[in-house]
Amino acid sequence: MTVHANLVDGEWIVGAGSENRNPSDTADVVGVYAQASAAQAEASIAAARAAFPAWSRTSVQARSDMLQTISAEILARRDELADLLSREEGKTRREALGEVVRAGQIFGFFAGEAVRLRGDALPSTRPGVECLVTREPVGVVSLITPWNFPIAIPAWKTAPALAFGNCVVLKPADLTGASAWALADIIHRAGAPAGVFNLVMGRGSELGPVLAGRGVDAISFTGSTGVGQSILAASLSHRPKVQLEMGGKNALVVLDDADLDVAVAAALDGAFFATGQRCTASSRLVVQEGIHDRFVAALAEAMAAQVVGDARAANTTIGPVVDARQLATDLDYIAIATAEGARLAFGGERLARDTDGFFLAPTLFTETSSRMRINQEEVFGPVASVIRVRDYEEAVATANDVPFGLCAGICTASLKHAMAFRRDAQAGMVMVNLPTAGVDYHVPFGGRKASSYGPREQGSYAAEFYTAVKTAYVNAV
Ligand code: UN1
Repeated sequence: MTVHANLVDGEWIVGAGSENRNPSDTADVVGVYAQASAAQAEASIAAARAAFPAWSRTSVQARSDMLQTISAEILARRDELADLLSREEGKTRREALGEVVRAGQIFGFFAGEAVRLRGDALPSTRPGVECLVTREPVGVVSLITPWNFPIAIPAWKTAPALAFGNCVVLKPADLTGASAWALADIIHRAGAPAGVFNLVMGRGSELGPVLAGRGVDAISFTGSTGVGQSILAASLSHRPKVQLEMGGKNALVVLDDADLDVAVAAALDGAFFATGQRCTASSRLVVQEGIHDRFVAALAEAMAAQVVGDARAANTTIGPVVDARQLATDLDYIAIATAEGARLAFGGERLARDTDGFFLAPTLFTETSSRMRINQEEVFGPVASVIRVRDYEEAVATANDVPFGLCAGICTASLKHAMAFRRDAQAGMVMVNLPTAGVDYHVPFGGRKASSYGPREQGSYAAEFYTAVKTAYVNAV
């Protein structure tokens, strides 16, 4: 099998490869991906540094045109790229197609943002002097991305980085090299000059220290809380810009006056679609006592109607868990919740299918309390728990009773409670009568508390991280 190479300074560099397998069918090898060495990561950073002066001075039109070319190719190849994503990560065809289209839209959006970057002109307090506030590229940025959105997250970091004139070293999760490699190939052929965009695949333990080290001006990371903390700790000595998106333990509140169908649809999607492997997943369902039993019964019925199986099969609604390790974690948490006294209302077991894959039944616990580990720690699988509450006040207190603060949702017909929740939720994103997961590409994304650190991603707010503000005072005599 051909080894997919790393892209360093405009050259494809092959090396010892690592095999990636399809989580729906472990007999299927998706591809072999060259494992970059720390020295190759250093070389990428040096190449990015060398390319930066010229790239940062290219016209915004040239950068916009390149992003538009990338967007067009992603969208034109959507079916093929979605199939690859589904095969390497285990998202259903529908979910994978949604993600690929989102990646294409993100590049299209930032093609526009490249030419819309604006500043401010203000009169100085001193006569005859003008203040001009402008944004400049930051420099060399390393982008470290997770396996659960293997094309959309690389896209939403790379597109603004390039749009605003930065040079990039992308290190995708080693579980999902295929989508990242396809994206790198598209960017390379769209005309990114040597060194402007580099791809280094491999293990975080090998490449992370270099990518978070002294050579870079900024680091954008999405992944686990533990790795995020260590990147932040390592950055303190040289203080690059740091942007971290880490875990979530998002609550979906269901009040008595909620439309039951809307609430069940939101919970089903938020908790179990994408196999629950989203940092925005609704892993806690905080349900008011008057609707509790009807909600649990209707959700369990909806769960029973799901088809867990091969991600690429047309009728599958929930694909496999990404790998053996994540499956073991999910099963551990199921055992922990049971030991804590939670009642298993649905699922809880590994499922056998025709192929050898990591299939897990969507799992629902009831009769749980907020301080149980199942309600405090991120599982990152198709596992959710119900916490029963008396009223709105208890619902909000429960929703906020976690270290995380990424997203929070509420299902209610009350405008008063919806608006109060929008204000009271300690989260970066709030959803009303919608799943907590599933975000648009043109508005800011990010959380509070232990979920996030640094400026927001996405939308026009992305300029905050990918540019540096300069204030000039001009006395034009
Ligand atoms: C979404 O819910 O549409 O890793 C996006 C994650 C998030 C992205 C979620 N950074 O799950």
